[in-house]
Amino acid sequence: MPKDTTTHPDLLAGAHVDAAAYDRMYADSIENPEAFWAEHGKRLDWIKPFTKVKDTSFAHDDVHVRWFEDGTLNVAENCIDRHLATKADQPAIIFEPDSPDEEAQHITYKQLHEEVGRFANVLKELGVEKGDRVVLYLPMIPEAAYAMLACARLGAIHSVVFAGFSPDALSSRVNDSQAKVVVTSDGAPRGGRVTELKDNVNKALLHCDDHVKCLVVKRTGQQVAWVAGRDVWYDDIAANVSTFCHAAEVGAEDPLFILYTSGSTGKPKGVVHTSGGYLAYAAMTHQYTFDYHDGDVFWCTADVGWVTGHSYIVYGPLANGATTLMFEGVPTYPDAGRFWAVCEKHKVNQFYTAPTAIRLLMGQSDEFVTKYDLSSLKLLGSVGEPINPEAWNWYNEVVGKGKCPIVDTWWQTETGGHLITPLPGATDLKPGSATKPFFGVQPVLLDATSGEEIHETEAEGVLCMKDSWPGQMRTLWGDPERFVQAYFSDYKGYYFTGDGCRRDADGYYWITGRVDDVINVSGHRMGTAEVESALVAHDAVSEAAVVGYPHELKGQGIYCYVTLMSDETPSDELVKELQTWVRKEIGPIAKPDVIQFAPGLPKTRSGKIMRRILRKIAENDFGSLGDTSTLADPSVVDDLIENRANK
Ligand code: WTA
Repeated sequence: MPKDTTTHPDLLAGAHVDAAAYDRMYADSIENPEAFWAEHGKRLDWIKPFTKVKDTSFAHDDVHVRWFEDGTLNVAENCIDRHLATKADQPAIIFEPDSPDEEAQHITYKQLHEEVGRFANVLKELGVEKGDRVVLYLPMIPEAAYAMLACARLGAIHSVVFAGFSPDALSSRVNDSQAKVVVTSDGAPRGGRVTELKDNVNKALLHCDDHVKCLVVKRTGQQVAWVAGRDVWYDDIAANVSTFCHAAEVGAEDPLFILYTSGSTGKPKGVVHTSGGYLAYAAMTHQYTFDYHDGDVFWCTADVGWVTGHSYIVYGPLANGATTLMFEGVPTYPDAGRFWAVCEKHKVNQFYTAPTAIRLLMGQSDEFVTKYDLSSLKLLGSVGEPINPEAWNWYNEVVGKGKCPIVDTWWQTETGGHLITPLPGATDLKPGSATKPFFGVQPVLLDATSGEEIHETEAEGVLCMKDSWPGQMRTLWGDPERFVQAYFSDYKGYYFTGDGCRRDADGYYWITGRVDDVINVSGHRMGTAEVESALVAHDAVSEAAVVGYPHELKGQGIYCYVTLMSDETPSDELVKELQTWVRKEIGPIAKPDVIQFAPGLPKTRSGKIMRRILRKIAENDFGSLGDTSTLADPSVVDDLIENRANK
């Protein structure tokens, strides 16, 4: 049996905080937030220092979140220029390409300064100005980081769209953000295959304003279809611009980026993060959670298309002057040892990945791990979904050799950085628990029905936050009402996370999963409404209801109940066709795992689909369906149980 707690003496010795320091700093952050955050706001270089620290309210009729609001700064200067005096020749980014046969690149801070300056000047040539939106649809190549930082340098707002998303998903994001430019590459190598990124952009832009320009970075060198006047090669403009670009002075509360994420209803939400508070929080959590020290090589395996890539590949590490590793590939190419080969090759000190990847790799022979020298590793991290104890133990024993603390970091696109996480050297770990709140973070558990705060230590309820932290999202792009509606309306006076949670007798938090209609597939958020609307867009489908169900590798799988048009007949071919359809409409991550044809769906008399029942059936848990008497037609349920797809 694994021990219940574990600490790491070597790391403890030099760690930024020990248990006593955590208690002291945490208490200080709650009792004196103004003074605490005024101090930590100083980790950034400000052009005009702030005099106001915190102006926030979660009151339902007056929600606002402002941090350091009268300060001005430039985010790219904070991530690059200020390190030049001492770290010009230190690698800022190590780029490990998809193929191990292609050489890795080491981009120093000096080079990063030039590359970002050049990229910013190219964007300027295309007419990008402060406040304009730029969509980035790129592989995990250094240019993705250059482009993000180039926007920041100009005060433009980037919106990174994961390169696995479909043309439709891309065009809706371009339109919603009213972007001026889409930056892409010819193709994206991944796992030995190539995604046709430029082709996808071509398809997407058919549905966008004619003025949107397409800037193309060369990655694969393949042939691409070209629209003259709209498309430009990055290299063609880059050859004629300077590598120096003046850094714009932006307000702390000016937007840095928009990142679309799934909600429980409707189309994806454009989460807006601003410049000062976000950067300070990303940098601070990167330092403390990963116990980052100067000279460490930090590797977060996420994609920059997700918030984890924003905060812990680009902004947090670079604001701290770290060496951050960018990996273009996948964990299983060319074989299941790739992660560990890369750790050995680049002497990675902190390694941060998702439980889904760990579960995938633990299913392979341990030799894929043990044949590499992993002695450089000091700490392991986990993010995206609850990590099951089995995966935690394998990670701890086989990868960490029992010597690396595992930080199970709970947070969200909306939170900008970690909210509940162990701090190595300070927090005893319990496998499966994200443990304790970060500085300034006040989690509360509410009774789901009454909305009352539960004060007992041992409790279970919906997870909310009582007060703001600097990395919090500020609004939803173009939809401030939906911002209030989605996060501050169900439980008035609190930020509602959408997660359920248990607190144990030691005050440790255990996330139990989403309580809304969002499912977590391999650590990626998927709104059931998005999959449903893709399904009903197919001619054969009259109605669809989608729920999550436990899946061994992915955490949750996508289970779809589909009612066909009266002239259609269920068949295996149709299942395949619908799976391919959804994949094409949204992207490969949304491909349904199970499709069950259902002549009817369980609805209340007012026509609302009872998802609770559908979830239970998908989970094969027929004993606890609850009260079905309020259904318009209770017999529907018997049919669903009888025909539950046996997968
Ligand atoms: C889930 C990813 C348990 C949670 C950073 C949250 C987790 C959603 C953890 C946010 C964790 C993330 N333990 N659950 N350590 N980390 N989650 O916006 O349900 O892609 O609400 O942000 O992932 O997903 P998002």
